[in-house]
Amino acid sequence: MNKDKFYITTPIYYVNDNPHLGHIYTTVVADAIARHMRSRGRDVFFLTGTDEHGQKVEKAAAKQGISPKELADRVVHNYLDLWTRMGIQYSQFIRTTDAVHERGVQRLFDIVRSKGDIYAGEYEGWYCTSCEKFVTEREIQDRRCPDCFKETEILKERCYYFRLSKYQVPLLDYYRANPGFIRPESRYNEVTEFVRGGLRDLSVTRSSVRWGIPVPDDPEQVIYVWFDALTNYLTGIGYGTDEESFLRRWPATLHLVGKDILRFHAVYWPAFLMSAGLPLPQTVFAHGWWLQDDRKMSKSLGNVFNPGPLIDRFGPDPLRYFLLREVPLGLDSNFSEEAVVDRYNYDLANDLGNLNSRIQRLFARALPPAGEPALVLSSAGAAEAGAEEQAVSANYYRCSKDAIRAFEEYAPSRAMVADWEFVNVLNRYVAVSEPWTLLDDPVKRPRLLRVLLTCAEGLRAIALLVAPALPGAAQSIADAIGAPQEDPWEFRPDREFRIRPSHAALFPRIENHKPKEVKKVEEPKKVETEPISIEEFQRVELRVAQVVSAERVEGTKKLMKLVVDIGTEKRQIVAGIAEAYEPQALVGKKIIVVVNLRPAMLRGVESRGMLLAATVGGSPTIATFEGDPPPGALVK
Ligand code: ME8
Ligand code: MG
Repeated sequence: MNKDKFYITTPIYYVNDNPHLGHIYTTVVADAIARHMRSRGRDVFFLTGTDEHGQKVEKAAAKQGISPKELADRVVHNYLDLWTRMGIQYSQFIRTTDAVHERGVQRLFDIVRSKGDIYAGEYEGWYCTSCEKFVTEREIQDRRCPDCFKETEILKERCYYFRLSKYQVPLLDYYRANPGFIRPESRYNEVTEFVRGGLRDLSVTRSSVRWGIPVPDDPEQVIYVWFDALTNYLTGIGYGTDEESFLRRWPATLHLVGKDILRFHAVYWPAFLMSAGLPLPQTVFAHGWWLQDDRKMSKSLGNVFNPGPLIDRFGPDPLRYFLLREVPLGLDSNFSEEAVVDRYNYDLANDLGNLNSRIQRLFARALPPAGEPALVLSSAGAAEAGAEEQAVSANYYRCSKDAIRAFEEYAPSRAMVADWEFVNVLNRYVAVSEPWTLLDDPVKRPRLLRVLLTCAEGLRAIALLVAPALPGAAQSIADAIGAPQEDPWEFRPDREFRIRPSHAALFPRIENHKPKEVKKVEEPKKVETEPISIEEFQRVELRVAQVVSAERVEGTKKLMKLVVDIGTEKRQIVAGIAEAYEPQALVGKKIIVVVNLRPAMLRGVESRGMLLAATVGGSPTIATFEGDPPPGALVK
């Protein structure tokens, strides 16, 4: 078996309706894991696709007055277009109406039947003639159909059964020997419990459904949609058509699914595979649900977020980042656009975006005049790396190790936390190494080059780390620094960069209120203060200050304690901004401070200055700079 191979799948989605945020979620998580594994040199195969047979699709098509295949052909494009827009790099997109898939399903059915695991029988249940379907014990309400409320009757239908009961013990043995097969652990326990409770044979064909794959020698019968759908994981890599490819890829490393369909993947699927004599997948990981008002977002409940407007508002990268970062894989969470805006502003605009533009501006200042080629930055002529540079490198190895481990454990959210730790390491490095004081002085040039190199290598490393979540931003960072790609996971002080600074802000801040509210708060109040003279204004000493550290003042909701560098000294100030900013997002920021204000005690903490901020709707936004002035510069 090829040890480097990594075969990852998403569920194949029903084409009875259009994709929504839940489908984006699974596919983005799978794509991020696939991208990470690819960047580590693994031989990745990433399969996704659509589930096009069965009653659900049959009914939806009938409603629209078209054939099921016409509906599938229409809806599949909405998936394909969405994946292009979201930057999903799948290796193969499978449709269950593909001829190769249909043949593969029939083949698997024949093999399982030849093992004696499929037998003819009868299915007995409540049947609704108006809807042409069986209604389960659970769905039935007073003998009536839950959909049309007409009376149902007991009906017997000829069908084939799969001997699921025979696999109860083999499955339990397998779970015990492979505790990593079902994840997370809580789901492992749930499934084990369910199987211990006993398994009944499963009906795997229908005669009341027409839209599906016929049983090879009994075309009255159509293969049950789950037997058909699960087999996509085999046919998508060549089962029955390209044996060599199939043997090389199978078994799957990871089936990523929502917890709604875990039982199909962790009980039925391994039983089918055991029967067919095929190896079992390494892991089935069930993630949680995105909820709206604490209820699962789903097409049948009609409470879904449509992808189009979300992508229009935030862009694909920020949406990917939010989905990956906000919730540990496996847990449920309510979705709100406000939460996306917060993540965007704190992590993307403040931390990553500001760091990138600060360094890009630095590059622009150190570049040769326009008309000459891009700045070639190499270690020739650069000063030796000092303790600060070594600390950046050591922190990189620590953070990247954490990120790698997190991805190996399918914990993308934790990987993002580790990535952002390094973003902040580089932010602090830029603040303490004060490169703007090294500009334009030939004596300081070697030191400046060392700092620039460390910044460039730091950005290169960040682009590598964040690429699974933010492929677009990672690409534009990489393009702007023109770094070579050899040994990408090494932090090297001697790489050569061809820098073309980019002035486009990576993630410009966005506002968190709905357009209507904006109008209300943006209406400026009439200014009714007395005019003052320029001399009077000049009595207020405003200076550029750079935030060195920030922490919340304990026991208060609003107050943040900052240490700022005002050029001549470092000072402590207290500001009422803790509800609007994360402390670590402030470090490195250039702000404006009134430095000749009388010291004051705020909730027992001394404040020697005041920062400037605009307060809109009760929420402060700190005044910052367009450019990169040195700490201590006078503001007037
Ligand atoms: O079940 N939160 O297809 P489907 C998170 N065709 N993920 C969600 C979600 C939510 N609110 N809603 C949907 C099927 N999903 C079958 C699968 S596989 C052999 C056949 C995601 O269109 C999640 O991955 O109903 C869930 O398992 C899947 O979409 C269900 O998609
Ligand atoms: Mg569903």
